[in-house]
Amino acid sequence: MSAATGEIKKITTHVIQSMKDRGEKIAMLTAYDFSMARIFDEAGIDILLVGDSASNVMAGHETTLPITLDQMIYHAQSVVRAVSRAMVVVDMPFGSYQSNSEVALSSAIRIMKESGAHAVKLEGGAEVEDSIKRILLAGIPVMGHLGLTPQSIYKFGTYTVRAKEEQEAQKLRDDAKLLDEIGCFSLVLEKIPAKLTKEVSESIAIPTIGIGAGKHADGQVLVSHDMLGITKDFNPRFLRRYAELFQVMTEATQGYISDVKSRDFPSDKEQY
Ligand code: KIV
Repeated sequence: MSAATGEIKKITTHVIQSMKDRGEKIAMLTAYDFSMARIFDEAGIDILLVGDSASNVMAGHETTLPITLDQMIYHAQSVVRAVSRAMVVVDMPFGSYQSNSEVALSSAIRIMKESGAHAVKLEGGAEVEDSIKRILLAGIPVMGHLGLTPQSIYKFGTYTVRAKEEQEAQKLRDDAKLLDEIGCFSLVLEKIPAKLTKEVSESIAIPTIGIGAGKHADGQVLVSHDMLGITKDFNPRFLRRYAELFQVMTEATQGYISDVKSRDFPSDKEQY
């Protein structure tokens, strides 16, 4: 915020790049609804990712695969309405870009037009090169995503650390270089060894944003429900919880139930 004008400096792809260039780390969180997005934006988050993890934490599915393009647009609209400063990036859901570049472009255009978001994210490297190029040609900024790509969970079979073997690590290096060269503005690296993150982050110009990828990424992202302790059974090594909201909300709910049952709520002062 500029003190003189009260104006809020919006985060753009250029701001994100300049953060990497001057060594300032980028902070990204997921958001799916208006109220939480407003808190994160006012707290000063740089990027809000409307992640397809909404499929897990909002809808209760086991994987990210079931969430639809319409549902992602609904979440994105709610987040965009809340935001004054942060950049809003929206995940392209499974099935909305894999078949061909025309489908990919029309899905990306729907996201941008109907939600007012600022960029899209999609998973994969060389195999989605044509789709990314076509989306970029339409003027839509693209964030890449390599390493553990949850939309391919049935191919991987497990959510374990990726690219530990040299062959997979080399493919990741090649894909990262490709995404940088074709014009992605940033790249999520999920659950890969810290050493590989360092190597990739130092070898490409665009910022990397890590989740379970160690301290050398140019930024970090966490799923907000995990970071806030709303989810309670997900405890990977990389997750740092900044609150225990499951417990706080359980106690608040129990207090309310108890007050209603005991006729303590509402009191004389809480009625008309
Ligand atoms: O959907 C999501 O939350 C993500 C992050 C884990 C990067 O893609």
